[in-house]
Amino acid sequence: MIISAMPGPFGAIVEGIDLSVPQSDDILRGLIAALHEHQILAIRGQRLTDADYVAFGHQWGRPLMFHLQSHRKDEFPEMIRITNAAATPERYRDGAKFWHQDSSYEAVPASVTMLYGAETPDEGGETLIASTALAYDALDDAMKAKIDGLVGLHCLGGSPALPGEKIPFIPENTARHGIVSHPLVMRHPVTGRKALYLSGSAFGAEGLEIDEGRALINALRTHCTQPQFVTRYKVETGDIFLWDNFQVLHSATPIEYSDEPGKRRLLFRISTKGVPALCDTADLAA
Ligand SMILES: [Fe+2]
Repeated sequence: MIISAMPGPFGAIVEGIDLSVPQSDDILRGLIAALHEHQILAIRGQRLTDADYVAFGHQWGRPLMFHLQSHRKDEFPEMIRITNAAATPERYRDGAKFWHQDSSYEAVPASVTMLYGAETPDEGGETLIASTALAYDALDDAMKAKIDGLVGLHCLGGSPALPGEKIPFIPENTARHGIVSHPLVMRHPVTGRKALYLSGSAFGAEGLEIDEGRALINALRTHCTQPQFVTRYKVETGDIFLWDNFQVLHSATPIEYSDEPGKRRLLFRISTKGVPALCDTADLAA
């Protein structure tokens, strides 16, 4: 297994491993540690059955069942289908074209998300990833002192939109999920490293007036998504691309919806909650 730096400010590429055959706990621990260190990983050159991929997904935690049943794969409901098929209804198009951390509108959000590339268009379809850990580190001491200890308030689609964002807002869904709270500065559950936790769902913070909270969230999301904190990656066929939701925001770039050869994209997402069974949780009291 060879791990090398990905072009951009952070991230790593993994080659020389075949996940269609069982791997030792030491190799899996190495992959998990690499994700926690580099925040995103692209494991290249895989040819996996659905069962292989789901078994690999379970190594990272408890796979979540996506809230839209129509996007799940029948036999393996852990797998969420992402496609640019021409028949995709308008309301589902470009649904991830805003900066977010997955399922942050739930009380227990996703820790890790992975995409498996089954089909890739010749052009376009990149994913943008912003490091909220590097962005936190770059804040001045006054801002760190202000936000350390604040509790962020989240609801589905609740964040003020940055320029160019399309934040899906469906009142019935938002109402169903309600309001949840998460630390604004999240300690990583395994490494303890601090990172901003904002997603596209944070709309304020406990103890702040509504306008002040919204302005703070807007400023922090603007800060995190500056180019020096952003890596751009296109998932190729045979890639497993993973990100650590406690250290990064992600955003999809627009894609053409088409069934033409060379334009089709088919990805399978798995998101997990909790800590990998092979890891101990951080001593966050330290
Ligand atoms: Fe997402």
